Amino acid sequence: MSGDAEPLLRVRGLTKHFPVRDGFRSTGAVRAVDGLDFDVRPGETLGLVGESGCGKTTTGRMLVRLLEPTAGTIEFAGRDITHARRGALRPLRQDLQIIFQDPYASLNPRHTVGRIVAMPLQVNGITPPGGVKKRVQELLELVGLNPEHYNRYPHEFSGGQRQRIGIARALALQPKLIVADEPVSALDVSIQAQVINLLRDLQRDLDLAFVFIAHDLAVVRHFCHRVAVMYLGKIVEIGDRDDIYQRPQHPYTRALLSAIPDVTTLGPAGRIRLTGDVPTPLNPPSGCRFRTRCWKAQDRCATEEPALVPRGGNQATACHFPETGTISPDPGPAGESSAGPVDATAAEVSK
Ligand SMILES: Nc1ncnc2c1ncn2[C@@H]1O[C@H](COP(=O)(O)OP(=O)(O)OP(=O)(O)O)[C@@H](O)[C@H]1O
Ligand code: SF4
Ligand SMILES: [Mg+2]
Repeated sequence: MSGDAEPLLRVRGLTKHFPVRDGFRSTGAVRAVDGLDFDVRPGETLGLVGESGCGKTTTGRMLVRLLEPTAGTIEFAGRDITHARRGALRPLRQDLQIIFQDPYASLNPRHTVGRIVAMPLQVNGITPPGGVKKRVQELLELVGLNPEHYNRYPHEFSGGQRQRIGIARALALQPKLIVADEPVSALDVSIQAQVINLLRDLQRDLDLAFVFIAHDLAVVRHFCHRVAVMYLGKIVEIGDRDDIYQRPQHPYTRALLSAIPDVTTLGPAGRIRLTGDVPTPLNPPSGCRFRTRCWKAQDRCATEEPALVPRGGNQATACHFPETGTISPDPGPAGESSAGPVDATAAEVSK
């Protein structure tokens, strides 16, 4: 990862509101994503974490331009791509890829694996040295599949193997950044760890940047350099991995971490059980959106929206009354050296 490098991806005020209509009449909007600011540097992995419905997929789809943002800007490699049209997007598509959550729905069942993985090369008119077949077989080998299985169909593979096919397809154009939208949540626990380890190895060997979307903090812990925690369309806390896991300052981050017993030193008594449902993004609470479930909420939280402000180092938190103190032991130096391979137990916690 290039520490001081210019951001590869620069996102400011990114917003997506889905209009709600009753016939022809607009009756409001689902505020799915509401003003996100973050950067991703070359070779860096940013985890985007939060409960179901908080806007993770909507964000990921806007980043790869499968969805048109309502407001805000997306810059990739110094270019404003927020509203880039199809023709302008073509060169960009090579650098910016997505891996989908469902390895069953995202592969065409009537196409051979060879054809699926070759598709991005053919669509972009690229003939690699040695030919398409050779390149596809190299890609299959890179993701741990047998290159001889070039002519097989998706139904002949397991879920984990299918996700590897999706990863090979995403790598075909040698992208600079991959958005991985819950790439392991549809897989068996034992397979989850294998696929995450594969992504980690690829990230390191190919110097790929990732936006890695996950439901909880267990899965991204071993994979991400930085983590952004989302709640109801907003980033409530963002920071370096070790700061987020050891010194979370937002009550919501603490609650998410307290659900992973092997991460915190809080013990069973420190488990924070969030009560109540996540409010609807059609009509989010005033002030702080987390206040209806926050045990620290005060009057100010209902009237004044907390901004995401830096609170030391690279950590920023959106809370009027942030938490202090350490909740987990120091896992060693920050960065890749402290993130060992994922074991099945770590992935299991996320189930
Ligand atoms: N096309 C759409 N039209 C209207 N509302 C939508 C649309 N797509 C998503 N939403 C709403 O936007 C909100 C965010 O959805 P999104 O799929 O981004 O959440 P998510 O964090 O990815 O959830 P999950 O963890 O369940 O995948 C949800 O309330 C969802 O119902
Ligand atoms: S601003 Fe208030 S309600 Fe929101 S997280 Fe902080 S203490 Fe809780
Ligand atoms: Mg999603």
